[in-house]
Amino acid sequence: MLAPPPRNWVYFLNSAAEELRHSAQISARRTHYVVESSVVVRGESVASMVAGAELTRLFCDSPIAGLNDVLLAGSSQHLQYANAAQRDHLAAVSAKEFSAGATTRAVIIPIRKNAAWWRLAHDERLAFFNPSPGKEGHTTIGERYAGRIFRQLLHARYDAAKPPYDFVTYFEFNEADTSAFTALLGELRDETLNPEWRYVEMEQEFWLRKVG
Ligand code: HEM
Repeated sequence: MLAPPPRNWVYFLNSAAEELRHSAQISARRTHYVVESSVVVRGESVASMVAGAELTRLFCDSPIAGLNDVLLAGSSQHLQYANAAQRDHLAAVSAKEFSAGATTRAVIIPIRKNAAWWRLAHDERLAFFNPSPGKEGHTTIGERYAGRIFRQLLHARYDAAKPPYDFVTYFEFNEADTSAFTALLGELRDETLNPEWRYVEMEQEFWLRKVG
């Protein structure tokens, strides 16, 4: 029998809080960032990160109870919309995580979809990810960029803490591909190419340097 896909819990905290309170007790892979900027794209701000602040990501195999200083958090899940061919194609072509360094950028985008999205049946939601006459859809758009942009999708909608976002999306790329990343965002947000985005009611970007 195949092993189930790994599950991970990911927490973004401000680095000072992480060092003071948690570092001794917690077993996690730690990654360090410096915040460059943040932009509210739609809806309200759900987290505050000021330019120049240091951020730590805890990447864990199990949830951590009682963390106080979490700015954003989510966990990985099984696929819901990619079919087997898309899954295999994306696995073959997708960029791997980048090493920390002066030219490595990371962007975190928490997203919330509206009540109308969550009322849709599975087949209705699935249809938004694939092409149909007049639209490309999320997966087709994303496939064009997958080789240059490392991505990780985290879910938060059913977390006990009830955060004000459904997803925490995380991306890495080489600084030279910044314009490709902004083009990708533009295409996903183009509601003709990708009508799924009509259902997005909150979206905020955090631009970072991955430093360690
Ligand atoms: C880098 C290229 C990208 C590719 C190849 C890609 C591909 C995909 C695929 C295949 C899924 C469905 C996963 C499943 O089966 O459950 C998905 C979900 C999702 N992606 Fe992307 N994506 C890309 C970029 C982005 C970007 C830039 C954003 C945010 C601005 C984003 C936000 C999301 C969200 C929020 C979901 C979950 C949607 C839901 O479950 O309702 N993706 N993506």
